[in-house]
Amino acid sequence: MSSKDVAGFRDYSTKLIKWYHRHHRDLPWRRTNDPYKIWLSEIILQQTRVVQGMPYYLRFVEQYPTLQDLAAADEKEVLRLWQGLGYYSRARNMHQTARLIVEEQGGQFPTSYSELLKLKGIGAYTAAAIASFAYNEAVAAVDGNVYRVLARIFGVETDITSSAAKKEFTALAQQLLPPDDAATFNQAMIEFGAIQCQPVAPDCLLCPFNDVCYAFQHGAQARLPVKGKKNKVRDRYLNYFVVEKDGQLAMRERTTKDVWQGMYDFYLVESPQEPADLDDLVSDHVLAHWLEMGEVVRTAGPYVHLLSHQRIYARFWHIRMSPERSILLPDEMSFYDADEIEQLPKPVLINSYLTENFFNFM
Ligand code: ADE
Repeated sequence: MSSKDVAGFRDYSTKLIKWYHRHHRDLPWRRTNDPYKIWLSEIILQQTRVVQGMPYYLRFVEQYPTLQDLAAADEKEVLRLWQGLGYYSRARNMHQTARLIVEEQGGQFPTSYSELLKLKGIGAYTAAAIASFAYNEAVAAVDGNVYRVLARIFGVETDITSSAAKKEFTALAQQLLPPDDAATFNQAMIEFGAIQCQPVAPDCLLCPFNDVCYAFQHGAQARLPVKGKKNKVRDRYLNYFVVEKDGQLAMRERTTKDVWQGMYDFYLVESPQEPADLDDLVSDHVLAHWLEMGEVVRTAGPYVHLLSHQRIYARFWHIRMSPERSILLPDEMSFYDADEIEQLPKPVLINSYLTENFFNFM
């Protein structure tokens, strides 16, 4: 795309902003210029649609109205509030970054794109979103919505999963951005992608760009943006042993660098494939001991849980111990009662299992 091509679309941003004033949704993070709240909303919206993300955003700002409140929070509490959103490392990074700003930068949120970019968990998109929405800095924020809009209108064929794409689309967005109204332009691009130029059913007949849009003119809406091969999805088989004693369950915090770090689950034996039966799994002495001391009262699963790069098949063995007998627990495990378990941050998979089989909480 040369600048000559872009010049042909000189009134692009004017038209787009006009469309935005007419059609945009009134969303709480658009009514503030507090960088902390904008940051929070952008991290949530990176992984969720507005409708699903909204209750999380509202709960977070109620619980932690300021950066200082978030920094002072316990990580467990933050993860508990994030439960169900997925990508838990984003919540952990956000929490750590809040602490760093409070402890090492006097609680002063960075005020420029380049300073924001230095923070853990803040990439080019989020830095540009915060810098433009909070400070009106003239930087284009380019997310998936923006790729789609630009690819279609301008007929950009570059594979959006390629390393060249980011540079090319960002440069194009930056050329279109009116320097004195970056905030509105960026919100408008995102909003236009979300409600007008939707992935599957773009509303081309009522689109203000249909006279110039490459995709509409060429019937290429379904093909654009070009998206290279899909993520490779790995199958994993998680076999959980749920030890119950006196109405309490043995749980542990996941501490390894794997999915769900910092969240709680049960004793786990991962197997390379679906286990044929329990004997396939009993190679360690802890499990052998539990099976000898207790009774498997129920099995459940497989629950299939899809993450971005993993398909998880989870089975659960509920082992009930008699209250009188003492049993061994690995150091990292403890017994928790229903109220305590409700408060622990848990993967959705574990929460669903608990809700269906033990406690009535959500
Ligand atoms: N998705 C990402 N950022 C957004 C925003 N600011 N408003 C609506 N949807 C979004």
